[in-house]
Amino acid sequence: MTTFICSPGEKISGNIRVPGDKSISHRSIILSSIAAGVSHISGFLQGEDSLNTISAFQQMGVDIERDEDRVRVDGVGLHGLSAPAGDLEMGNSGTAMRLMLGLLAGQDFDSRLTGDQSLSSRPMLRVIEPLQTMGALIESEAGGRAPLQVRANQGLHAIEYDMPVASAQVKSCLLLAGLYADGETVVYEPAPTRDHSERMLRAYGCDVVSRGAEIRLRSGQQLLACDVEVPADISSAAFFMVAASIATGSDITLQHVGVNPTRTGVIDILKLMGASLELHNRRDIGGEPVADIRVRSAPLTGIDIPSELVPLAIDEFPVLFVAAACAEGSTRLSGAEELRVKESDRIQVMADGLTELGIAAQVKQDGIVVEGGRIGGGSVESHGDHRIAMAFSIASLRAEGVIRINDCANVNTSFPGFAELAQQAGIRIQIGDANL
Ligand code: S3P
Repeated sequence: MTTFICSPGEKISGNIRVPGDKSISHRSIILSSIAAGVSHISGFLQGEDSLNTISAFQQMGVDIERDEDRVRVDGVGLHGLSAPAGDLEMGNSGTAMRLMLGLLAGQDFDSRLTGDQSLSSRPMLRVIEPLQTMGALIESEAGGRAPLQVRANQGLHAIEYDMPVASAQVKSCLLLAGLYADGETVVYEPAPTRDHSERMLRAYGCDVVSRGAEIRLRSGQQLLACDVEVPADISSAAFFMVAASIATGSDITLQHVGVNPTRTGVIDILKLMGASLELHNRRDIGGEPVADIRVRSAPLTGIDIPSELVPLAIDEFPVLFVAAACAEGSTRLSGAEELRVKESDRIQVMADGLTELGIAAQVKQDGIVVEGGRIGGGSVESHGDHRIAMAFSIASLRAEGVIRINDCANVNTSFPGFAELAQQAGIRIQIGDANL
């Protein structure tokens, strides 16, 4: 079991590029595989989650070659996938499982999706139910949990679906199924969620119409190969944004970060707290906005996090709670019950860890109240959640003692090389073995 041992730090500095965006990496493989022709992807995230997605398509007969972060996909076209010989293992990734379920529901063969312990306890009914309404045949464990058995498509039909949760995964799942369903699929989202699927489908030549909360896609559209340059993941960059903000004297530049407006809630929240973040060299790469982000330390103040920013910062809350622990006063989050069904229950797990380090954290059903204070040393549990592990290692910059973080191996799912990059920037992190 991998443990991070983090000693109190001082400041961080440098000019770094974090690995590729996870959401875009998954989608680049899915869409390239069902497109006609050869797609080239660069900046691909070499994390366990996105590598599992590559393996799944290789099992379904797609020729995919990877050289580090460059991937060549020889797409088989909309109806060219073949039946996999065994289970499709999605590891730790909710995105992969939910998006793949939509795609597989449209295939003319049976398949079975499996995941690790965390993924096998996450809710899948949010995608199973609308897919069943479209005519998909899916069997699950009790309560709609994985493993998921998908039967060959007997004729999907398009639906109009009003999503009860603001989820880009649900939206993307239904759009992928919609490619194979008779008619026009329409999804309404209760609040804006990341729109990479829509942007990327368009880049592959598919006509997706977004009008406010409504997204429409006609079935049967052929995708054409496309070259994708994956920007650095803002969700990974967020750890260094908070690190530089809380560690006095820090000055760091994060290169080539994806700043799609459906992902920049973390920047807005940190700015509201008083952080010093500047976006430079803004440009557009393959339909996605990208910028270099300079972050300098600044005193932070607690805030009430605006509810409209919640879906736009959904993956960044673990590290934002660390920012809140270093801020003057209290920070309140509500309307964020989705955090309870991520790779771990991120409200409870962060509250437990912060409490262990001497920070007052009051848990609410749909959020948390964090009081700024002095961070002590201690031993915290990440519960195998990559973002919890990384968040607590950032807290060490302001800690008065050593922070030991258990169960950190899953950091490799989204941020391979995190500890090395963090060390390079000035965070005193060592990788240990819990059994020693
Ligand atoms: C993702 C969507 C988000 C996010 C996840 C990646 C995606 O989930 O938490 O890490 O790539 O579509 P929800 O949209 O279900 O909240």
